[in-house]
Amino acid sequence: MSDKRCPYPFRRPAPLAVPDELLTTRDQPVLPVTLPSGDEALLVTRYADVRRLLTDHRLSRDLNRPGAARISRTNAMFQDSRINPDPPEHTRVRSLVLKAFTGARVERLRPYIEGVVDELLSAMEHTGGPADLNETLAFPLPIRVLARLLGVPDVDVTRLRGWTDHFLSVGRYSGQQIGAAMRELSGYIAELVATKRAEPGDDLISAMIRARDQDDGRLTEYQLHWWVRLLLLVGYETTATQLGGGVAMLLAHPDQLALLRKDYSLVCSAVEELLRWKLVGSSVSMLRYAVEDIPMDGYTIPKGASVIPAVDSANQDGSVFSDPSTFDITRADNPHLTFSLGPHFCVGGDLARLQLQVATERLLRRFPTLHLVQPADRLHRIEGSLLEGFARIDVDW
Ligand code: HEM
Repeated sequence: MSDKRCPYPFRRPAPLAVPDELLTTRDQPVLPVTLPSGDEALLVTRYADVRRLLTDHRLSRDLNRPGAARISRTNAMFQDSRINPDPPEHTRVRSLVLKAFTGARVERLRPYIEGVVDELLSAMEHTGGPADLNETLAFPLPIRVLARLLGVPDVDVTRLRGWTDHFLSVGRYSGQQIGAAMRELSGYIAELVATKRAEPGDDLISAMIRARDQDDGRLTEYQLHWWVRLLLLVGYETTATQLGGGVAMLLAHPDQLALLRKDYSLVCSAVEELLRWKLVGSSVSMLRYAVEDIPMDGYTIPKGASVIPAVDSANQDGSVFSDPSTFDITRADNPHLTFSLGPHFCVGGDLARLQLQVATERLLRRFPTLHLVQPADRLHRIEGSLLEGFARIDVDW
Protein backbone atom coordinates (compact mmCIF):
# COMPACT_ATOMS: atom_id res chain seq x y z
CA MET A 1 0.00 0.00 0.00
CA SER A 2 1.51 3.37 -0.98
CA ASP A 3 1.61 6.11 1.68
CA LYS A 4 0.94 8.89 -0.78
CA ARG A 5 -2.56 10.19 -0.12
CA CYS A 6 -4.74 11.61 -2.87
CA PRO A 7 -7.68 13.87 -2.23
CA TYR A 8 -11.02 12.13 -2.58
CA PRO A 9 -13.56 12.65 -4.20
CA PHE A 10 -11.45 12.67 -7.36
CA ARG A 11 -12.00 15.52 -9.80
CA ARG A 12 -13.91 14.81 -12.99
CA PRO A 13 -12.03 15.97 -16.12
CA ALA A 14 -15.43 16.98 -17.55
CA PRO A 15 -18.87 17.18 -15.93
CA LEU A 16 -20.12 13.91 -17.43
CA ALA A 17 -16.78 12.07 -17.37
CA VAL A 18 -15.59 9.47 -14.90
CA PRO A 19 -12.53 10.76 -12.94
CA ASP A 20 -9.25 9.62 -14.56
CA GLU A 21 -8.18 7.92 -11.32
CA LEU A 22 -11.18 5.60 -11.48
CA LEU A 23 -9.93 4.18 -14.76
CA THR A 24 -6.72 2.92 -13.15
CA THR A 25 -7.16 2.69 -9.35
CA ARG A 26 -7.74 -1.06 -9.37
CA ASP A 27 -3.97 -1.54 -9.88
CA GLN A 28 -3.95 -0.75 -6.18
CA PRO A 29 -6.68 -2.60 -4.27
CA VAL A 30 -6.59 -0.11 -1.44
CA LEU A 31 -5.65 3.52 -1.79
CA PRO A 32 -5.01 5.96 1.08
CA VAL A 33 -7.06 9.11 0.53
CA THR A 34 -7.73 12.44 2.24
CA LEU A 35 -11.38 13.42 2.66
CA PRO A 36 -12.74 16.99 2.37
CA SER A 37 -12.57 17.19 6.19
CA GLY A 38 -8.79 16.56 6.01
CA ASP A 39 -9.31 13.19 7.72
CA GLU A 40 -7.79 10.05 6.24
CA ALA A 41 -9.47 6.96 4.88
CA LEU A 42 -8.71 3.86 2.81
CA LEU A 43 -10.43 3.63 -0.55
CA VAL A 44 -11.15 0.03 -1.57
CA THR A 45 -11.13 -0.07 -5.35
CA ARG A 46 -11.84 -3.56 -6.74
CA TYR A 47 -15.33 -4.84 -7.47
CA ALA A 48 -14.93 -8.16 -5.63
CA ASP A 49 -13.54 -6.46 -2.50
CA VAL A 50 -16.16 -3.69 -2.47
CA ARG A 51 -18.95 -6.25 -2.81
CA ARG A 52 -17.52 -8.38 -0.04
CA LEU A 53 -16.96 -5.47 2.34
CA LEU A 54 -20.44 -4.03 1.89
CA THR A 55 -21.85 -7.16 3.51
CA ASP A 56 -19.09 -7.62 6.12
CA HIS A 57 -20.32 -6.92 9.67
CA ARG A 58 -16.80 -5.92 10.73
CA LEU A 59 -17.20 -2.74 8.70
CA SER A 60 -19.50 -0.50 10.71
CA ARG A 61 -21.57 2.43 9.50
CA ASP A 62 -21.48 3.90 13.02
CA LEU A 63 -19.03 6.78 12.68
CA ASN A 64 -19.75 8.23 16.07
CA ARG A 65 -16.49 6.84 17.49
CA PRO A 66 -13.21 8.40 18.52
CA GLY A 67 -10.80 8.27 15.60
CA ALA A 68 -13.44 7.69 12.92
CA ALA A 69 -12.95 9.92 9.88
CA ARG A 70 -15.51 12.60 9.09
CA ILE A 71 -16.59 13.44 5.58
CA SER A 72 -16.90 17.14 6.25
CA ARG A 73 -15.76 19.44 9.03
CA THR A 74 -18.92 21.50 8.94
CA ASN A 75 -21.50 18.76 8.53
CA ALA A 76 -21.68 15.94 11.09
CA MET A 77 -23.75 13.75 8.83
CA PHE A 78 -24.05 10.11 9.79
CA GLN A 79 -22.61 10.89 13.19
CA ASP A 80 -25.82 10.94 15.17
CA SER A 81 -25.12 9.28 18.53
CA ARG A 82 -28.82 8.61 19.10
CA ILE A 83 -29.06 6.31 16.10
CA ASN A 84 -27.36 2.96 15.79
CA PRO A 85 -26.91 2.48 12.06
CA ASP A 86 -25.59 -1.09 12.36
CA PRO A 87 -27.44 -4.41 12.34
CA PRO A 88 -29.33 -5.80 14.16
CA GLU A 89 -30.86 -2.54 15.47
CA HIS A 90 -30.83 -0.78 12.11
CA THR A 91 -32.15 -3.80 10.21
CA ARG A 92 -35.09 -4.18 12.60
CA VAL A 93 -36.28 -0.62 12.00
CA ARG A 94 -35.35 -0.65 8.34
CA SER A 95 -37.53 -3.69 7.73
CA LEU A 96 -40.58 -1.60 8.69
CA VAL A 97 -39.66 1.01 6.10
CA LEU A 98 -38.85 -1.61 3.46
CA LYS A 99 -42.46 -2.78 3.48
CA ALA A 100 -43.44 0.50 1.88
CA PHE A 101 -41.01 -0.11 -0.96
CA THR A 102 -42.03 -3.59 -2.02
CA GLY A 103 -42.09 -4.16 -5.77
CA ALA A 104 -45.90 -4.17 -5.73
CA ARG A 105 -46.21 -0.83 -3.87
CA VAL A 106 -43.67 0.81 -6.16
CA GLU A 107 -45.44 -0.56 -9.24
CA ARG A 108 -48.71 0.90 -7.92
CA LEU A 109 -47.08 4.32 -8.24
CA ARG A 110 -46.51 3.81 -11.98
CA PRO A 111 -49.74 5.52 -13.17
CA TYR A 112 -49.06 8.45 -10.84
CA ILE A 113 -45.46 8.75 -12.12
CA GLU A 114 -46.62 8.56 -15.76
CA GLY A 115 -49.27 11.21 -15.08
CA VAL A 116 -46.82 13.60 -13.42
CA VAL A 117 -44.25 13.11 -16.21
CA ASP A 118 -46.86 13.83 -18.90
CA GLU A 119 -48.09 16.89 -17.05
CA LEU A 120 -44.55 18.26 -16.67
CA LEU A 121 -43.71 17.56 -20.33
CA SER A 122 -46.92 19.28 -21.48
CA ALA A 123 -46.00 22.34 -19.42
CA MET A 124 -42.53 22.29 -20.98
CA GLU A 125 -44.02 22.06 -24.47
CA HIS A 126 -46.50 24.82 -23.73
CA THR A 127 -43.86 27.24 -22.37
CA GLY A 128 -41.46 26.43 -25.21
CA GLY A 129 -37.68 26.09 -25.25
CA PRO A 130 -35.05 26.60 -24.16
CA ALA A 131 -35.72 25.15 -20.74
CA ASP A 132 -33.70 24.11 -17.72
CA LEU A 133 -34.40 20.39 -17.43
CA ASN A 134 -33.66 20.50 -13.69
CA GLU A 135 -36.59 22.85 -13.11
CA THR A 136 -39.01 21.45 -15.69
CA LEU A 137 -38.62 17.71 -15.02
CA ALA A 138 -35.65 16.33 -13.11
CA PHE A 139 -36.49 17.88 -9.71
CA PRO A 140 -40.30 18.28 -9.78
CA LEU A 141 -40.89 14.61 -10.65
CA PRO A 142 -39.05 12.87 -7.78
CA ILE A 143 -40.14 15.56 -5.30
CA ARG A 144 -43.78 14.96 -6.11
CA VAL A 145 -43.38 11.18 -6.09
CA LEU A 146 -41.65 11.26 -2.72
CA ALA A 147 -44.31 13.61 -1.33
CA ARG A 148 -47.00 11.21 -2.53
CA LEU A 149 -45.24 8.20 -1.01
CA LEU A 150 -44.64 9.85 2.35
CA GLY A 151 -47.91 11.77 2.44
CA VAL A 152 -46.26 15.21 2.46
CA PRO A 153 -48.54 17.99 1.18
CA ASP A 154 -47.51 19.21 -2.30
CA VAL A 155 -47.29 22.79 -1.02
CA ASP A 156 -44.47 21.84 1.35
CA VAL A 157 -42.20 20.13 -1.12
CA THR A 158 -40.38 23.22 -2.34
CA ARG A 159 -39.27 23.96 1.24
CA LEU A 160 -37.63 20.55 1.32
CA ARG A 161 -35.24 21.48 -1.42
CA GLY A 162 -33.54 24.22 0.60
CA TRP A 163 -33.11 21.95 3.60
CA THR A 164 -31.75 19.11 1.46
CA ASP A 165 -29.17 21.42 -0.12
CA HIS A 166 -27.85 22.20 3.35
CA PHE A 167 -27.82 18.62 4.58
CA LEU A 168 -25.99 17.35 1.51
CA SER A 169 -23.32 20.02 1.84
CA VAL A 170 -19.73 18.95 2.34
CA GLY A 171 -18.23 22.43 2.19
CA ARG A 172 -20.90 24.61 0.63
CA TYR A 173 -22.49 25.93 3.84
CA SER A 174 -21.14 26.77 7.31
CA GLY A 175 -21.86 24.54 10.29
CA GLN A 176 -24.13 27.31 11.61
CA GLN A 177 -26.17 27.43 8.41
CA ILE A 178 -26.48 23.64 8.34
CA GLY A 179 -27.52 23.61 12.02
CA ALA A 180 -30.21 26.25 11.39
CA ALA A 181 -31.60 24.34 8.39
CA MET A 182 -31.66 21.10 10.38
CA ARG A 183 -33.55 22.78 13.24
CA GLU A 184 -36.14 24.10 10.77
CA LEU A 185 -36.48 20.67 9.21
CA SER A 186 -36.84 18.99 12.62
CA GLY A 187 -39.60 21.47 13.53
CA TYR A 188 -41.32 20.72 10.25
CA ILE A 189 -41.10 16.95 10.80
CA ALA A 190 -42.50 17.29 14.33
CA GLU A 191 -45.52 19.17 12.92
CA LEU A 192 -45.94 16.67 10.10
CA VAL A 193 -45.86 13.69 12.47
CA ALA A 194 -48.39 15.40 14.77
CA THR A 195 -50.73 16.08 11.83
CA LYS A 196 -50.46 12.51 10.56
CA ARG A 197 -51.02 11.15 14.03
CA ALA A 198 -54.26 13.13 14.23
CA GLU A 199 -55.31 12.28 10.68
CA PRO A 200 -53.55 9.17 9.38
CA GLY A 201 -53.52 8.44 5.66
CA ASP A 202 -52.47 5.61 3.36
CA ASP A 203 -48.86 6.76 3.29
CA LEU A 204 -45.46 5.73 4.61
CA ILE A 205 -45.27 8.25 7.46
CA SER A 206 -48.69 7.15 8.76
CA ALA A 207 -47.56 3.50 8.51
CA MET A 208 -44.41 4.28 10.51
CA ILE A 209 -46.46 6.13 13.13
CA ARG A 210 -48.72 3.09 13.43
CA ALA A 211 -45.68 0.88 13.98
CA ARG A 212 -44.39 3.31 16.61
CA ASP A 213 -47.69 3.76 18.41
CA GLN A 214 -48.38 0.06 18.70
CA ASP A 215 -45.77 0.62 21.40
CA ASP A 216 -44.13 -2.74 21.14
CA GLY A 217 -40.74 -1.05 21.27
CA ARG A 218 -40.08 -1.48 17.57
CA LEU A 219 -39.58 2.18 16.78
CA THR A 220 -38.82 5.02 19.19
CA GLU A 221 -40.17 8.49 18.60
CA TYR A 222 -36.65 9.65 17.75
CA GLN A 223 -36.13 6.79 15.25
CA LEU A 224 -39.42 7.67 13.63
CA HIS A 225 -38.30 11.29 13.16
CA TRP A 226 -34.86 10.19 11.99
CA TRP A 227 -36.27 7.92 9.27
CA VAL A 228 -38.69 10.58 8.07
CA ARG A 229 -35.78 13.00 7.86
CA LEU A 230 -33.58 10.47 6.08
CA LEU A 231 -36.26 9.73 3.49
CA LEU A 232 -37.00 13.41 2.91
CA LEU A 233 -33.32 14.16 2.47
CA VAL A 234 -32.12 11.26 0.35
CA GLY A 235 -35.33 10.35 -1.45
CA TYR A 236 -35.40 12.79 -4.34
CA GLU A 237 -32.25 14.79 -5.07
CA THR A 238 -30.43 11.54 -5.84
CA THR A 239 -33.02 10.65 -8.48
CA ALA A 240 -33.16 14.24 -9.76
CA THR A 241 -29.39 14.40 -10.29
CA GLN A 242 -29.27 11.00 -11.96
CA LEU A 243 -32.25 11.82 -14.19
CA GLY A 244 -31.01 15.22 -15.39
CA GLY A 245 -27.41 14.01 -15.73
CA GLY A 246 -28.59 10.84 -17.50
CA VAL A 247 -30.51 12.78 -20.13
CA ALA A 248 -27.51 15.09 -20.63
CA MET A 249 -25.27 12.03 -21.02
CA LEU A 250 -27.55 10.57 -23.70
CA LEU A 251 -27.76 13.90 -25.54
CA ALA A 252 -23.98 14.11 -25.43
CA HIS A 253 -23.64 10.65 -27.04
CA PRO A 254 -25.59 10.86 -30.31
CA ASP A 255 -24.79 7.26 -31.31
CA GLN A 256 -26.24 5.88 -28.06
CA LEU A 257 -29.19 8.29 -28.25
CA ALA A 258 -29.96 7.09 -31.78
CA LEU A 259 -29.96 3.45 -30.60
CA LEU A 260 -32.48 4.28 -27.89
CA ARG A 261 -34.68 6.37 -30.18
CA LYS A 262 -34.77 3.47 -32.61
CA ASP A 263 -35.72 0.90 -29.97
CA TYR A 264 -37.25 2.13 -26.72
CA SER A 265 -37.16 -1.39 -25.27
CA LEU A 266 -33.52 -0.47 -24.53
CA VAL A 267 -34.61 2.06 -21.93
CA CYS A 268 -34.06 -0.35 -19.00
CA SER A 269 -30.50 -1.23 -20.02
CA ALA A 270 -29.83 2.44 -20.82
CA VAL A 271 -30.92 3.45 -17.30
CA GLU A 272 -28.70 0.71 -15.79
CA GLU A 273 -25.70 1.88 -17.82
CA LEU A 274 -26.32 5.47 -16.70
CA LEU A 275 -26.49 4.20 -13.12
CA ARG A 276 -23.19 2.33 -13.62
CA TRP A 277 -21.76 5.64 -14.83
CA LYS A 278 -22.83 7.00 -11.43
CA LEU A 279 -23.71 10.54 -12.37
CA VAL A 280 -24.70 11.12 -8.74
CA GLY A 281 -21.71 12.08 -6.58
CA SER A 282 -18.74 9.98 -5.59
CA SER A 283 -18.61 7.16 -3.01
CA VAL A 284 -17.64 9.41 -0.12
CA SER A 285 -20.99 8.84 1.60
CA MET A 286 -20.20 5.11 1.82
CA LEU A 287 -17.66 5.81 4.58
CA ARG A 288 -17.36 3.01 7.18
CA TYR A 289 -15.19 2.08 10.20
CA ALA A 290 -13.32 -1.21 10.68
CA VAL A 291 -14.15 -2.61 14.13
CA GLU A 292 -11.71 -5.51 13.64
CA ASP A 293 -8.82 -6.39 11.35
CA ILE A 294 -10.32 -7.57 8.07
CA PRO A 295 -8.05 -9.88 6.07
CA MET A 296 -8.64 -9.42 2.34
CA ASP A 297 -7.10 -11.08 -0.69
CA GLY A 298 -3.44 -9.99 -0.36
CA TYR A 299 -3.86 -7.20 2.23
CA THR A 300 -5.51 -6.49 5.58
CA ILE A 301 -7.76 -3.62 6.53
CA PRO A 302 -6.53 -2.72 10.01
CA LYS A 303 -8.88 -2.34 12.95
CA GLY A 304 -9.67 1.35 13.49
CA ALA A 305 -9.29 2.32 9.82
CA SER A 306 -11.92 4.44 8.11
CA VAL A 307 -12.81 2.77 4.84
CA ILE A 308 -14.69 3.71 1.68
CA PRO A 309 -15.93 0.76 -0.36
CA ALA A 310 -15.73 2.70 -3.63
CA VAL A 311 -18.69 1.72 -5.76
CA ASP A 312 -17.71 4.29 -8.40
CA SER A 313 -14.39 2.44 -8.78
CA ALA A 314 -16.02 -1.01 -8.64
CA ASN A 315 -18.37 0.06 -11.44
CA GLN A 316 -15.32 0.57 -13.66
CA ASP A 317 -13.67 -2.77 -12.91
CA GLY A 318 -12.67 -4.49 -16.16
CA SER A 319 -12.77 -7.93 -14.52
CA VAL A 320 -16.57 -7.55 -14.26
CA PHE A 321 -17.55 -5.06 -16.98
CA SER A 322 -16.17 -5.56 -20.46
CA ASP A 323 -14.65 -2.38 -21.88
CA PRO A 324 -15.76 -0.47 -18.75
CA SER A 325 -14.79 3.01 -19.91
CA THR A 326 -17.17 2.77 -22.88
CA PHE A 327 -20.68 4.12 -22.35
CA ASP A 328 -22.81 1.39 -23.88
CA ILE A 329 -26.58 1.42 -23.36
CA THR A 330 -26.90 -2.10 -24.78
CA ARG A 331 -24.66 -3.58 -22.05
CA ALA A 332 -26.48 -6.77 -21.10
CA ASP A 333 -24.70 -7.88 -17.93
CA ASN A 334 -24.52 -4.83 -15.67
CA PRO A 335 -24.30 -5.72 -11.95
CA HIS A 336 -23.28 -2.16 -10.92
CA LEU A 337 -23.19 -1.30 -7.23
CA THR A 338 -24.65 2.20 -7.45
CA PHE A 339 -27.46 1.33 -5.01
CA SER A 340 -24.94 -0.36 -2.66
CA LEU A 341 -25.47 -3.80 -1.10
CA GLY A 342 -25.91 -5.33 2.31
CA PRO A 343 -27.54 -3.80 5.38
CA HIS A 344 -27.76 -0.29 3.87
CA PHE A 345 -28.76 -1.26 0.33
CA CYS A 346 -30.82 1.63 -1.05
CA VAL A 347 -34.46 1.14 -0.11
CA GLY A 348 -35.61 3.39 -2.96
CA GLY A 349 -33.67 1.76 -5.81
CA ASP A 350 -36.72 0.32 -7.57
CA LEU A 351 -38.64 3.56 -7.18
CA ALA A 352 -35.71 5.50 -8.64
CA ARG A 353 -35.40 3.05 -11.54
CA LEU A 354 -39.08 3.34 -12.39
CA GLN A 355 -38.94 7.14 -12.47
CA LEU A 356 -35.74 7.15 -14.53
CA GLN A 357 -37.19 4.74 -17.09
CA VAL A 358 -40.59 6.43 -17.45
CA ALA A 359 -39.23 9.99 -17.54
CA THR A 360 -36.34 9.29 -19.93
CA GLU A 361 -38.48 7.44 -22.46
CA ARG A 362 -41.42 9.87 -22.39
CA LEU A 363 -39.15 12.91 -22.64
CA LEU A 364 -37.31 11.56 -25.69
CA ARG A 365 -40.55 10.44 -27.36
CA ARG A 366 -42.25 13.80 -26.80
CA PHE A 367 -39.26 15.86 -28.04
CA PRO A 368 -37.69 14.10 -31.05
CA THR A 369 -35.20 16.94 -31.59
CA LEU A 370 -34.20 17.47 -27.97
CA HIS A 371 -30.62 18.72 -27.59
CA LEU A 372 -28.33 20.46 -25.11
CA VAL A 373 -28.14 24.22 -25.59
CA GLN A 374 -24.43 24.24 -24.83
CA PRO A 375 -21.78 21.56 -25.30
CA ALA A 376 -21.86 19.02 -22.46
CA ASP A 377 -18.43 20.05 -21.19
CA ARG A 378 -19.91 23.46 -20.27
CA LEU A 379 -22.36 21.93 -17.81
CA HIS A 380 -21.57 23.03 -14.30
CA ARG A 381 -21.47 20.70 -11.28
CA ILE A 382 -22.20 22.15 -7.85
CA GLU A 383 -19.03 21.93 -5.81
CA GLY A 384 -18.96 21.11 -2.11
CA SER A 385 -22.13 19.04 -2.36
CA LEU A 386 -22.33 15.33 -1.68
CA LEU A 387 -24.29 14.61 -4.85
CA GLU A 388 -22.27 16.90 -7.15
CA GLY A 389 -25.53 17.92 -8.84
CA PHE A 390 -25.78 20.00 -12.01
CA ALA A 391 -26.46 23.74 -11.53
CA ARG A 392 -28.72 23.69 -14.60
CA ILE A 393 -29.23 21.57 -17.71
CA ASP A 394 -30.41 23.80 -20.54
CA VAL A 395 -32.12 21.98 -23.39
CA ASP A 396 -34.03 23.03 -26.51
CA TRP A 397 -35.97 21.20 -29.23
C1 HEM B 1 -30.69 7.32 -8.44
C2 HEM B 1 -31.20 7.42 -7.23
C3 HEM B 1 -30.58 6.87 -5.99
C4 HEM B 1 -29.29 6.49 -5.74
C5 HEM B 1 -28.10 6.48 -6.68
C6 HEM B 1 -29.25 6.02 -4.35
C7 HEM B 1 -28.12 5.50 -3.74
C8 HEM B 1 -28.08 5.01 -2.44
C9 HEM B 1 -26.96 4.36 -1.85
C10 HEM B 1 -25.60 4.12 -2.51
C11 HEM B 1 -27.31 3.99 -0.58
C12 HEM B 1 -26.50 3.19 0.40
C13 HEM B 1 -25.47 3.93 1.20
C14 HEM B 1 -24.60 3.01 2.00
O1 HEM B 1 -24.47 1.79 1.73
O2 HEM B 1 -23.97 3.53 2.90
C15 HEM B 1 -28.66 4.44 -0.37
C16 HEM B 1 -29.35 4.30 0.80
C17 HEM B 1 -30.63 4.78 0.98
N1 HEM B 1 -31.47 5.27 0.02
FE1 HEM B 1 -31.03 5.61 -1.91
N2 HEM B 1 -30.48 6.16 -3.80
C18 HEM B 1 -31.34 6.66 -4.76
C19 HEM B 1 -32.70 6.90 -4.62
C20 HEM B 1 -33.41 6.75 -3.47
C21 HEM B 1 -34.82 6.97 -3.31
C22 HEM B 1 -35.77 7.37 -4.45
C23 HEM B 1 -35.13 6.76 -2.00
C24 HEM B 1 -36.44 6.85 -1.27
C25 HEM B 1 -37.55 7.34 -1.72
C26 HEM B 1 -33.90 6.38 -1.33
C27 HEM B 1 -33.80 6.09 0.01
C28 HEM B 1 -32.66 5.59 0.62
C29 HEM B 1 -32.58 5.30 2.05
C30 HEM B 1 -33.68 5.51 3.07
C31 HEM B 1 -31.31 4.80 2.27
C32 HEM B 1 -30.71 4.35 3.60
C33 HEM B 1 -30.84 2.88 3.75
C34 HEM B 1 -30.16 2.36 4.99
O3 HEM B 1 -29.26 3.00 5.53
O4 HEM B 1 -30.56 1.27 5.41
N3 HEM B 1 -32.88 6.37 -2.25
N4 HEM B 1 -29.12 5.04 -1.54
